[in-house]
Amino acid sequence: MQIDIVSVFPEFFDSLHVSLLGKAQDSGLLDIATHNLRDWTHDVHHSVDDTPVGGGAGMVMKPEVWAECLDELLGLTAASTGVTPEKTASEKEKTTPSQSAAEEQQQPSGESLPGTVLIFPNPSAPLFTQQAATDLSKKQRLVFGCGRYEGIDARVPQYYAQRGVETREYSIGDYVLNGGEVAVYAMIEAITRLIPGFMGNPESIVEESYTGEPLLEHRQFTKPATWRGIDVPPVLTSGDHGKVARFRRDEALERTSRMRPDLIEKIETAALDKADRKTLIGLGWEVSSTHPRKRVPSPKHQ
Ligand code: ADE
Repeated sequence: MQIDIVSVFPEFFDSLHVSLLGKAQDSGLLDIATHNLRDWTHDVHHSVDDTPVGGGAGMVMKPEVWAECLDELLGLTAASTGVTPEKTASEKEKTTPSQSAAEEQQQPSGESLPGTVLIFPNPSAPLFTQQAATDLSKKQRLVFGCGRYEGIDARVPQYYAQRGVETREYSIGDYVLNGGEVAVYAMIEAITRLIPGFMGNPESIVEESYTGEPLLEHRQFTKPATWRGIDVPPVLTSGDHGKVARFRRDEALERTSRMRPDLIEKIETAALDKADRKTLIGLGWEVSSTHPRKRVPSPKHQ
């Protein structure tokens, strides 16, 4: 897989060359290149931002500099736009808010550069999930554009989506960072470890949280069996593999029920075995419909 990262702080990504990510690059599984957005500026100050149209605090990243950079990295010529023509003023008037919201959603078309995905981290975008990481781990090339300040002019992702480049925006969580760099780092780690051959032990991926069923993982312990007066759960030292598996599964269900009940609601009840159902019922879930539902406590008898 080839990964390109555009940022005004490319040195932020120097540590992508250590550990498993470094090994994957040494072995040729991965090729990561960082680019300084300022290299595509033409003014003496190398400015990349400007004030927001319509007013407001902060600065917005200029579309021209981003487009020069991305055109070059993606091998697109600025001249042959192929962009859907601008709406006329009267057509614009007829556009309803929901229509423009639908247009805003960058559908992954990818007809221009198959196998390439352009990704912009953005706190106001759909959440980046394990499902997205899995999907992106199968692509040939990912190009990340890290915004700073109040973000990148919204026409940039729109433009590349309209040119047929598969373009996506993701938030890594409901909080605001100073820029997209940390978000891109997190996404790269989550995506690359799913590339076949990346992990030393691929089984560790199969068992962990969010893979397959949406459950939090059970707790992990190593030796000694007693440390500072705290024992590991005795069943884990019993040598009974069946009991260990059941204990871990019940713990995953209990932890998820307690900390992320929203994930329990996403499980397909049909995929649960008898013991799973019994555990969930004991945790206050109803398992008679397609997805588990939290039981509503019955009103007390008068
Ligand atoms: N940029 C700033 N905050 C972010 C977030 N939560 N996710 C993705 N990009 C961001």
